[in-house]
Amino acid sequence: MESPDGYKSKKPVKKGVIALIGAALVAVLFLVIFLPIYFTVIRPREQKSSNGSSAIINEPDSGSTENGPSPPVETSEAGSLRGGHGSTITKEDGSTFTYQNDFGGLWVEDPADPFNNDARPNSWTPPLNTSWQWGTDRIYGVNLGGLFVLEPFISPEIFQRYPGALDEFMLSEAMAADTANGGLEQILEEHYNTFITEEDIAEIAGAGLNWIRVPIGFWAVETWPGETFLERTSWRYFLRIVKWARKYGLRICLDLHALPGSQNAYNHSGRLNNVNFLEGPMGIANAERALYYLRVFTQFISQPQYLDIIQAIELVNEPLAGQIGFRPLNSFYIEAYQIIRGITGVGSGNGPYIILSDGLQAMASWEGLLPGADRVGMDGHPYFAFVDTPILDPISVPAEDGLAGGTWPRRACDAWGPTFATSRTNFGVTFGGEFSGAVNDCGLYLRGIHNPRSFHPQCPEYDAWETYNATMKEGIQSFITASFDAIGDFFFWTWKIGESIEGRVDIPLWSYKLGLEQGWIPRDPRESIGKCQRLGATFEPFQGPFSPAQTGGNPSATVAADYLLSNPWPPASINSINVPIEFLPRYTNTAPVITLPEPTYTGAPASATQGLDGWFNDNDTEGGIAEAVECTYPDRYIPDPDYAPIAPCPVVAGVPVPTPEVTPGPTIPEVEPGSTLDVESSTPEVTPAPVL
Ligand SMILES: *[C@@H]1O[C@H](CO)[C@@H](O)[C@H](O)[C@H]1NC(C)=O
Ligand SMILES: *[C@@H]1O[C@H](CO)[C@@H](O)[C@H](O)[C@H]1NC(C)=O
Ligand SMILES: *[C@@H]1O[C@H](CO)[C@@H](O)[C@H](O)[C@H]1NC(C)=O
Ligand SMILES: *[C@@H]1O[C@H](CO)[C@@H](O)[C@H](O)[C@H]1NC(C)=O
Ligand SMILES: *[C@@H]1O[C@H](CO)[C@@H](O)[C@H](O)[C@H]1NC(C)=O
Repeated sequence: MESPDGYKSKKPVKKGVIALIGAALVAVLFLVIFLPIYFTVIRPREQKSSNGSSAIINEPDSGSTENGPSPPVETSEAGSLRGGHGSTITKEDGSTFTYQNDFGGLWVEDPADPFNNDARPNSWTPPLNTSWQWGTDRIYGVNLGGLFVLEPFISPEIFQRYPGALDEFMLSEAMAADTANGGLEQILEEHYNTFITEEDIAEIAGAGLNWIRVPIGFWAVETWPGETFLERTSWRYFLRIVKWARKYGLRICLDLHALPGSQNAYNHSGRLNNVNFLEGPMGIANAERALYYLRVFTQFISQPQYLDIIQAIELVNEPLAGQIGFRPLNSFYIEAYQIIRGITGVGSGNGPYIILSDGLQAMASWEGLLPGADRVGMDGHPYFAFVDTPILDPISVPAEDGLAGGTWPRRACDAWGPTFATSRTNFGVTFGGEFSGAVNDCGLYLRGIHNPRSFHPQCPEYDAWETYNATMKEGIQSFITASFDAIGDFFFWTWKIGESIEGRVDIPLWSYKLGLEQGWIPRDPRESIGKCQRLGATFEPFQGPFSPAQTGGNPSATVAADYLLSNPWPPASINSINVPIEFLPRYTNTAPVITLPEPTYTGAPASATQGLDGWFNDNDTEGGIAEAVECTYPDRYIPDPDYAPIAPCPVVAGVPVPTPEVTPGPTIPEVEPGSTLDVESSTPEVTPAPVL
């Protein structure tokens, strides 16, 4: 693939990059020279004098475990370093910690063979070199929320430093202006570098978990003028997460969490206020950019070196289906599916699973979408925290199984067990990509900067985690355990909540890490199996198996042509526009395509990285997205209510031009949640966008 203006060469190499490469070189030299000496000479002497420790400790001399001297880090015949519970991990900077994993996890690192997939997080999860069996293997996952897409309640301190910033857009502006502290790049890079470390990834594996969902913003690929986000830097740190996930045996769902224009107007979409994705004057153009970035991500992660780690890509997090309407979103999902499968091909081993958000509507609303499609999954986000009328039932009273929890554990089973099981039966692969341990909206900034604290009457009790008594902890744990069981394949939101400026985690029940440390998250997530049954809940769990196409078993899986024709891209109409959809501005594909850069593999022979260029399918030679010079585009984030173009721009050959209308164009009635998505067949007026 020619990429004359590819990502790597687009910007001059910055000082930071040079420093990073320098640090990597030092790290490799350390591994090559110092490690052998360390293990043969220094290490044995230390083991005699050190004593037990059950936590991961950061000091260079913490070595052994409660069970006696730590097992040595072994060197395999092929030369990779590997170890299990109690072994010593040496980080890039040369410092060490002890790997704690009671579940039979194996970590593997081999600078000379950077794509070694032998690692596994625990004994009941297949190593990365072995296929994941959907419907048999269970996802026990967490999100790395707030790492690459910032949220006030997850990393409050950085928002508190810049009062007035409500979302990452404003925060980025404020950081850019803060040159005294190094400006945007330095300040945000410090967050990327410290918020989730190698120990976190090791702890996730050690907690009996096996997958991570990693939210990322479109700015990991590029930003356009007027978009304040830090461009591209997060991609480098994402690659570092991938490297660690490979080392500890974790699989990844890459989640496109923030799209140009914002898909839900929430602070966690990058910019608070308006939806400009599939809605409003820029609704189609912004969606075209989203499709382009999905293409760029897919090209990278479909490379064979990444396939076994990044096994799923989520097209868009929480688009507001209720406001955007099902039909436009449906068309977007179908178009993204075609673009992605056009790149990856169809069937097992060809690219990632494609995950659709339920759009914050009932998952059942999507049954029947993409019939016959290859490896498409559904993501639902069940929360009680955001209900309109607060539920005041106490949690430190007995539940049906005799443990504390009150009505909460059973409520989770009843509300979520049936819907997730039904979605598996009627739709296919389904997971809960987000949910938390909270039964209310207490805690700092959960409702955003504007509403720092909830008025829920039980907040004093729930906020004071330092003084939770044993019954309270048991009740919360019971609710969380029941949630795991009800949802089935799950990703807790989120692994870590950062401290506020006061130096305290101020929203405890959203942090898996804190819950583990404090005892309201089960040490072994498998304790959840059968919890709903023990509570007397009666829903039928999904018995499997999935149909062959749903899990890659049909190498010629196709979606019927008439179905595609009745759901054209772009959609027949979108909400909040004054003109026929054909008049909305579009982009051209005349820009040089962006290829995401590979990391630098300093210790690897050239043969190990040959052919890796960030672009899996060279048959995809389409250009990148750009504005057409002859067109003017309205604001991408602030919809102009009076915007009323009178002709298409750019003019696309073959697209019929409708007569301009003075009155507002038709809006399509929304499909009610729960109804099926059968769309009356309409004659497509627009040629579907080219499929690769
Ligand atoms: C080792 O740790 C145990 C438990 O923490 C303690 O009882 C014991 O005295 C310690 N031994 C030494 C030699 O420090
Ligand atoms: C996969 O990794 C395991 C270790 O987790 C190893 O024993 C096995 O040989 C590997 N399999 C292949 C096919 O490389
Ligand atoms: C900010 O995001 C949180 C969830 O992350 C949400 O609860 C809150 O409503 C959002 N704030 C606004 C003003 O959208
Ligand atoms: C534990 O704490 C909860 C919440 O503050 C309280 O309602 C309950 O009475 C306490 N239970 C015990 C046994 O102290
Ligand atoms: C590219 O196209 C050629 C010719 O049609 C085909 O043989 C090859 O498999 C395609 N490559 C990929 C990665 O799809």
